[in-house]
Amino acid sequence: MEITLHSPLDMHLHVRQDAMLDLVAPLTAQHFAGAVIMPNLLPPVDTVERLHWYTSEVRRATSGYAFEPFMTLFFRDYSHEELLAARDHIIGIKLYPAGATTNSDAGVREVLAMDHVFGMMQELGIPLLVHGETHGFVMDREAEFCEVYRELATRYPRLRITMEHITTAKAVSLLDEFENLRATVTPHHLIITLDDVAGGLLNPHLFCKPIAKRPEDRQALLEASLKAHPKLMLGSDSAPHPRHAKEAPGCAAGVFTAPIILPMLAELFVRHGAEQNLQAFVSDNARRLYGVNPPATTVRLANDPMQIPASYGQVVPMWAGRSLSWSVKEVTC
Ligand code: NCD
Ligand code: ZN
Ligand code: ZN
Repeated sequence: MEITLHSPLDMHLHVRQDAMLDLVAPLTAQHFAGAVIMPNLLPPVDTVERLHWYTSEVRRATSGYAFEPFMTLFFRDYSHEELLAARDHIIGIKLYPAGATTNSDAGVREVLAMDHVFGMMQELGIPLLVHGETHGFVMDREAEFCEVYRELATRYPRLRITMEHITTAKAVSLLDEFENLRATVTPHHLIITLDDVAGGLLNPHLFCKPIAKRPEDRQALLEASLKAHPKLMLGSDSAPHPRHAKEAPGCAAGVFTAPIILPMLAELFVRHGAEQNLQAFVSDNARRLYGVNPPATTVRLANDPMQIPASYGQVVPMWAGRSLSWSVKEVTC
């Protein structure tokens, strides 16, 4: 059996900088026609100048591939002039609550106090991308943040808001309540629950923010994904950290999946008899929701097994050493 995908897009991706960028960016560009590049570097990408520098870095690291980086700015109190200067070079602005996740110390302390910036973004047509977690109890953070999503979606009905990497049934249900809310979901949150992270021996390579939740949450995410809910997009949140930062006390948050995303999804969608919806989930929904036009590529997958490497350089992927029943056979452009 084979599956052919056209211009797959990863709508939430971390590629870092320097040697890590050179290692991981090609692992995405070899399969994907484009990706939304997250801005949580140290220091963050929060000036137009830094945005241009980072764009050229990502382009350099992916040259030779038919790959379009869709850039983001790190949310802060921007002026109208700054937003105007950035608008044509970004797909959106990514908001991190301060301290919620990796490299987010420069994030926002009081989200709803940023009204003037949201108002300008709405007027300028710049989408808002959000890491939606409060500082409450770890399992409840996303569900609590749903109140903030409601408030933002109501106050700014023309602001397009992406709930990034959703992990709860509650967030899934918001998609049908507010016209201007859409979401990304990661492959790993369709497959694992908190049990896989911490139910047996602790698995640091599955530890990420937001943390994987309960079976009923996974079920809601899976159902919405398998039917390619029109407001849901693949966003892998592939987030590489060197092995020493993961296999350590104070383990860094982030799951590295870039090279195995499409085989994982093919296996999952075929197992549930939903392979006909994979194209919409990995590309068409994102193209429609963001109005982007990535390079035309064709990816051919077959159910020939692949062995997941023990590591890529210093980075250990999800399910290192295991095998998947699907693999990428050919990419053409
Ligand atoms: C991401 C990272 O490492 O940059 N980590 C994560 O656990 N998801 C940040 C993020 O997307 O929240
Ligand atoms: Zn995040
Ligand atoms: Zn992320």
